Amino acid sequence: MFNLNDIIRPNVLRMKPYSSARDEFKGTASVFLDANENNLGSLAGENYNRYPDPHQKELKQRIAEIKGVEPDQIFLGNGSDEAIDLLFRMVCRPGQDSMLHLPPTYGMYEVSANLNEVRLDAIQLTADYQIPVEEVLLAIKPETKIIFICSPNNPTGNLIEPESIEDILRAFKGLVVVDEAYIDFASDQSWTNRLQEFPNLVILQTFSKAWGMAGLRLGLAFASAEIISVMDKIKPPYNINEATQELALQALEREEALKDMVEEIVQERELLINALPALATVEHVYPSDANFILVKVKDPNGLYNFLLGKGIVVRNRASLPGCEGCLRISVGTLEENQELLKAIAEF
Ligand SMILES: Cc1ncc(COP(=O)(O)O)c(C=O)c1O
Repeated sequence: MFNLNDIIRPNVLRMKPYSSARDEFKGTASVFLDANENNLGSLAGENYNRYPDPHQKELKQRIAEIKGVEPDQIFLGNGSDEAIDLLFRMVCRPGQDSMLHLPPTYGMYEVSANLNEVRLDAIQLTADYQIPVEEVLLAIKPETKIIFICSPNNPTGNLIEPESIEDILRAFKGLVVVDEAYIDFASDQSWTNRLQEFPNLVILQTFSKAWGMAGLRLGLAFASAEIISVMDKIKPPYNINEATQELALQALEREEALKDMVEEIVQERELLINALPALATVEHVYPSDANFILVKVKDPNGLYNFLLGKGIVVRNRASLPGCEGCLRISVGTLEENQELLKAIAEF
């Protein structure tokens, strides 16, 4: 049985969270002299002289309605990278505990583990970028606190088979983090539908991809209210700034526009997937459920530099074990994708 208190770091269990000025005040008031703000105003714009809501109540309420979860099942972070870091700090004792990830995958799990002095176990994905479940289960140690699964996976673009994730959720007594940064572009449903079933499930999503808000830094974690309350307890109090909260609320009213944009990106992705194999240098185009495509080419470094010379930047993943010979290409606008195809044909 999963028991959150068995895996939380003792210092986190013991500590009291920071109590902000507005947490201590209850009732109505018109004169705020409690938070050392600038009451004359802001040089940046309306309201920005005031600290933002540390609990992001309005924003969480709206996200809850859209995502079909409860507000207390949502954590908001300064990008999902902040949630990754907080999860380590919540359950992994530096120098003692470990995490397991499945390369080739998103690089921040490793960076964040190293920063927090968390040991790293890596089980390579199979040739078709799926999880070798038996191998993963055998690699779990008493010190293993978190398993990171990225689906759709970055940089390979594929969804991970739900049966594999379910097997791991059932067998592992630590946190299973399913990173769904690219889920809006995918053909499968989000794991948020199954939160009630798995008390050790944490789902990451972000406003940086489909919502087009990478510059605002807003990431989400969905989990049991119990897990979310601990993440909230240890987060920096004002981690989501006022401008981000306001702009996100506005964006959430534009779900139709989100659908249109996702549809267009997916359409462009399929056009690229169909066009790329005809080009002489292209050896393999991997299927994608994301807004990027992994492409194996004959001379990745040569092509990468050739494209750079034309002012086109893609991601060179050729030196990453499991991605030999590969470039990762984000789906652009119709014009950008045509320019890319033309340039690759010229190489
Ligand atoms: C799989 C994955 N997770 C998380 C992130 C980080 O997202 P954010 O911008 O919310 O920090 C990225 C960014 O590229 C990503 O690819």
